[in-house]
Amino acid sequence: MSLNADTISQQSLPKHIAIIMDGNGRWAQSRNRPRTYGHKKGVDAVRSAVQFCSKLKIESLTLFAFSSENWRRPEDEVSTLMDLFLFVLTKEVKKLHKNNVKLNVIGEISRFPSSLQERVQAAHVLTENNTGLQLNIAANYGGRWDIMQAAQKLAMQASEGKIQPSDITEEAITKQLSMAHQSELDLLIRTGGDCRISNFLLWQAAYAELYFTDTLWPDFNEEAFAEAIACYVSRERRFGCTGDQIKELLAVSKVTS
Ligand code: IPE
Ligand code: IPE
Ligand code: MG
Repeated sequence: MSLNADTISQQSLPKHIAIIMDGNGRWAQSRNRPRTYGHKKGVDAVRSAVQFCSKLKIESLTLFAFSSENWRRPEDEVSTLMDLFLFVLTKEVKKLHKNNVKLNVIGEISRFPSSLQERVQAAHVLTENNTGLQLNIAANYGGRWDIMQAAQKLAMQASEGKIQPSDITEEAITKQLSMAHQSELDLLIRTGGDCRISNFLLWQAAYAELYFTDTLWPDFNEEAFAEAIACYVSRERRFGCTGDQIKELLAVSKVTS
């Protein structure tokens, strides 16, 4: 299935795409190289994915760079990942800014080295008024953590008497989550062959289309990304309704508009 920009309207494209970028280690190991080499190659794939989404005018791209569970990896791998993150934040941010990308790091960054936290802050400030692609990098992020921190904020408001327990609705929780002000997640991609969410966007993935591919992250090029989007476009999204109900809705809106 190929993606043809002339035949697919902007409206049918996902507005918000998230990717679990998995398979760097296996990619390197299959070449008899250390796992960290795979992470370095993974950065090239990130660059290409960002460019691709900018070209397609996708609103938001959310990339899982480091999970709250990834601290359990060997110390040298964790520190290579931190160095790489720092390097990318230092080297790439100006280019992202030039391309009108708005960068946002989501997750519990207080656990990161202070040099990294400062870079994150500087990147936020530099790009906050940009109007192009919203790029979210999930770092020390966990879906359960996100829901927990939303619950804590609401509990705090309740304990101060600002809201009632009955005000804690789905909408109220959604508003306290990371990326609350962005489009809902439409498409969640996982590379590397495993079919699990690994504590990524749990709440936000409720109605997202899930796309799993065996392609390892460093091999996830424009062609592979286009394939994922073409698959999304071809699926009928129904939000718990039947296709007939959607068609009925369409018929009604034609009559009333
Ligand atoms: C994903 O690749 C990148 C991070 C988790 C940072 P992996 O490092 O998990 O690669 P595999 O799954 O071991 O091949
Ligand atoms: C998920 O990949 C996390 C990131 C891509 C950052 P993992 O390789 O860490 O996931 P598990 O451990 O296989 O579930
Ligand atoms: Mg993995």
